[in-house]
Amino acid sequence: MGYAGPGDTLGVLLSGLQRLEYRGYDSAGVAVISDDGELQVRKRAGKLNVLVDDLHRHPLKAGHTGLGHTRWATHGGPTDENAHPHVGDHGRLAVIHNGIIENYAELKAELLDEGFSFTSETDTEVAAVLIGREYERLHDLEAAFRASVRRFEGAFTLLAVHQDEPGVVVGARRNSPLVIGRGKGENFLASDVAAFVAHTTHALAIGQDQMVVLTADSIAVTTFDGEPVEPEAFEVEWDASAAEKGGWSSFMAKEISEEPEAVADTLRGRLRDGKVCFPGLALPDSALAAVDRVLILACGTASYAGMTASYALERWVGVPVDVQLSHEFRYRDPVIGPRTLVVAVSQSGETMDTLMATRYAQQQGAPVLAVCNTQGATIAREADGVLYTHAGPEVAVASTKAYSAQVAALYLLGLYLGQLRETLSDAERTDAVAELEALPDRIQGALHASEGIPQMAHWMADTRAVLFLGRNVLYPVALEGALKLKELAYIHAEGFAAGELKHGPIALIDPGLPVFVLMPSPRRSAELHAKVLSNIQEIRARGARVIAVAEVGDTAVLPYADDVITVPLTSPLFSPFLSVVPLQIFAMELSTAKGLDVDQPRNLAKSVTVE
Ligand code: M6R
Repeated sequence: MGYAGPGDTLGVLLSGLQRLEYRGYDSAGVAVISDDGELQVRKRAGKLNVLVDDLHRHPLKAGHTGLGHTRWATHGGPTDENAHPHVGDHGRLAVIHNGIIENYAELKAELLDEGFSFTSETDTEVAAVLIGREYERLHDLEAAFRASVRRFEGAFTLLAVHQDEPGVVVGARRNSPLVIGRGKGENFLASDVAAFVAHTTHALAIGQDQMVVLTADSIAVTTFDGEPVEPEAFEVEWDASAAEKGGWSSFMAKEISEEPEAVADTLRGRLRDGKVCFPGLALPDSALAAVDRVLILACGTASYAGMTASYALERWVGVPVDVQLSHEFRYRDPVIGPRTLVVAVSQSGETMDTLMATRYAQQQGAPVLAVCNTQGATIAREADGVLYTHAGPEVAVASTKAYSAQVAALYLLGLYLGQLRETLSDAERTDAVAELEALPDRIQGALHASEGIPQMAHWMADTRAVLFLGRNVLYPVALEGALKLKELAYIHAEGFAAGELKHGPIALIDPGLPVFVLMPSPRRSAELHAKVLSNIQEIRARGARVIAVAEVGDTAVLPYADDVITVPLTSPLFSPFLSVVPLQIFAMELSTAKGLDVDQPRNLAKSVTVE
């Protein structure tokens, strides 16, 4: 984050960093140019509160220009030395950086040859020293910065300040996010609008390979070559309170509770007279009607949202629907073309793997539709069309409401394509729309029905492994349940298609091993229900402890399950919205029972902006 203005610079930076901390939290630092012209840098390994405590004990002098950073380590471990900002020009210039400067080793060798020295293992310090060297030569921050960024390869967002130019913050971006917040007599730079939304909702997007020179009352954006650019302005819809914990024990608890609203907001304005409408979708209907394949690209939870929706999409649209992990997709010489609709799903809209996959797909001539939650994000801006989920800011690292909103948006897309291609009967469309409209209340019901889960999680606090089983549309939900448990409770967890167990993984079953089984509806999916009951018997025979997630009234499962968590009735394709809720709550409660940080699990960052 960068700031220039008359406000309490350190306060602005620290509150902004608090909202950005989900992006990385292994160390944090600030640089403030004091009013008497001294560059003050303070940085500490550990979470932001370590830095905040240090600043309370040893305050900085007031100033009106500054930078702040939270780090997720790439080059060099999370130490004070490796934390940002890094300095150049004999401690007179400070630099913060997201991304990876891929040619840093070559630049470092050049600088070492010239007699410069380094105190950290980071690529960022190389940038700071190089910009510092250019400043010594040019005595102009903008010129020194421009000369340097043109030499960097890879992905980066870089911000810099120099004590000889108080009031000025320079920034640049390539393949990594950076947004401007335009205030009244103060301006902001940040990798996400969340950092400044408490001060202003007026934002400007900075494009690829562009840089900005910002003061309290001026903003100048140019290309790396110096061509002036008119940045695209947008209004931030989120209000500051949406990213506050507001009395909840964790952001995750708050965000799970917001799932009904997130789905309702994603549907809002897109269902009219029993049909789906997408006002303002830049992709023309003719191109959408002509698709002969849908390919969903995403990572992590977003990929499970894609997998979940692929069952409905294939059925409604009548074309093959594939889901690929973005980072695998690019390196397999994929066969795609102008009639493949590529759907890039990303909550943040900044996941580098998905961004790169999206660009690759566009180069192959495929139309790309982004499903994103964050306004103005890079993937949303670069795609040919964007369908925003309106889940509001998701702060906890583990994705919850974003998953439900992504599945809802993809279902809308499936219905829309089905309408255009006339592959969906009126009756099926009407039923599906009614099911979608009923979802917020039903998800609320699933939240109420999950009240016994904290107790269950408590007795499982010492569990070393958990399995999740599902079939058909509930299979991706099993994968998602396992991912939640891995990332939040550091427990080995695996999700399996229930029918696959007998082909090998059943060997994992030890007596007492907890296995969550996601039950299909006995009324509407009787055949599958019977199959899953057989799968349960196979694992119980080997000593598994079965926790069934079943629709209310499913008495057939009772004799086979040690515990049953009920969810409201819905039609089978819509059951993931309900079954996922207890799994999210279970992972959160188990993390809490183990005394772990629910919102910021170890080793992770929410937005993964490196490949
Ligand atoms: O921002 P994105 O949706 O592109 O993020 C993709 C994944 O990194 C993300 O879903 C991740 O798997 C979640 N933190 C898991 O809870």
